[in-house]
Amino acid sequence: MRIELLPEEVKSYIASGEVIENPAECVKELVENSLDAMATRVEVEILKGGKRFIGVRDNGLGIPAEDLPKAILSGATSKIRTLEDLQNLHTYGYRGEALHAISLVSRTVIRSRFYQEETGKEIRVEGGRVLSQRTVGMQVGTQVEVYDLFYNLPVRKAFLKKEETERKQVYKVFKALALVNPSVSFRLMAEEREVIRLNPARDLKERAEDLFEVRLEHLTLEEKPFRVDLLLSSQKTSGEVLLFVNRRPVQNRKLVEYLRKLTGKWSLCLCYLQMPPYLVDLNVHPKKTEVRLLKEGLIKELLSLVLKSRHAPKVPFLSQETARYQVEPQLIGILDNTLLVAKHGDYLYFFDQHLLSERYNYERLKTQADRACHMSVRAGDKLDEKTARELLRSWLEFENREVCPHGRPLYYRIYLGDLYKKLGREY
Ligand SMILES: Nc1ncnc2c1ncn2[C@@H]1O[C@H](COP(=O)(O)OP(=O)(O)OP(=O)(O)O)[C@@H](O)[C@H]1O
Ligand SMILES: [Mg+2]
Repeated sequence: MRIELLPEEVKSYIASGEVIENPAECVKELVENSLDAMATRVEVEILKGGKRFIGVRDNGLGIPAEDLPKAILSGATSKIRTLEDLQNLHTYGYRGEALHAISLVSRTVIRSRFYQEETGKEIRVEGGRVLSQRTVGMQVGTQVEVYDLFYNLPVRKAFLKKEETERKQVYKVFKALALVNPSVSFRLMAEEREVIRLNPARDLKERAEDLFEVRLEHLTLEEKPFRVDLLLSSQKTSGEVLLFVNRRPVQNRKLVEYLRKLTGKWSLCLCYLQMPPYLVDLNVHPKKTEVRLLKEGLIKELLSLVLKSRHAPKVPFLSQETARYQVEPQLIGILDNTLLVAKHGDYLYFFDQHLLSERYNYERLKTQADRACHMSVRAGDKLDEKTARELLRSWLEFENREVCPHGRPLYYRIYLGDLYKKLGREY
């Protein structure tokens, strides 16, 4: 066989398949565009699971009338200009392929009014070709209507699933985007019924509680440069586990499995990870959803740590501040004005308050060991809660966490697992 180069048009169709395979992917791309355009209101409508019709309207910035026909060209994007932009990407889009791919495989109508213009413009596209353009009166924002997905690609159309299955996929994508954009109001109509309506929420927790109609527990832990926020239902629920990295819905099968193991089959678990972008590889998947996380082992450790704190007993002595779950040692109390009792990770610690304070002065103030000793709190001195906490907090940052400047151990600790075992309980 001779090798021939494919005509551009055929290449485009193949590429479009990498962006759009089903209605849900179409909804995802369109809603992401709305969010990129800073919409505060997004409405989605589908008919027949999206196979017959998908509509997305927003009140975002709109597209300048002059640019509208360009929006459906391959590589048409307002989001990057240079290679450098590509590395500092804060938007959902950058390939300039989504509208192109959609308009190639459907009958599409796009209406948009740019915020600096008095009127809107409408284009009708079929199989990638612009059939008509006209000026229309409309509010600022964009409306995209997608009819008859894959009408011109019967084989791909045949690969679509049952309406019901496609509809569920749409819900899933819609929910995930709503969860990470709490300040945006969202509405989803399916088969002429309103399925989801979300008013702007204060924060991620409020949005998630509105969406799932359950109370959620919030656990958080920050270990620079990572931050984990977990929202968990205590009642038995659908048992969904959803993962977000830097505020984007993502897929990572291994982490989701790990979370499911930690949280149990029935618990709804929303996991929001924040980490520096260079530790996230978004480009392993052309659809930008499957991510690879560097330092995955460390992330797992953080997840298990934050979840262990979930069942930590709340001792009255604890102020609200430390009752939040942090990596910081949790002060439980002070024994005999001598020992600071604290929980940290899987251990119960007994710190000698004098030795801890000595190490603190030695490291913080860079004084001599003897002077540090002289300045320090003594055994028997009444320590206030604030100072005790400050000592524990700093202990984490000590160069030497083990011994005082004279070499005596700072603490004695007990593994909680052993304690539980003694009491005949599992830890
Ligand atoms: N809802 C919208 N509001 C305002 N502008 C939009 C909207 N949808 C699309 N656009 C404009 O059309 C361009 C093309 O959109 P398209 O989704 O094809 O590409 P992209 O978002 O830049 O990249 P990607 O292919 O990764 O989604 C965008 O860059 C944007 O300028
Ligand atoms: Mg886009």
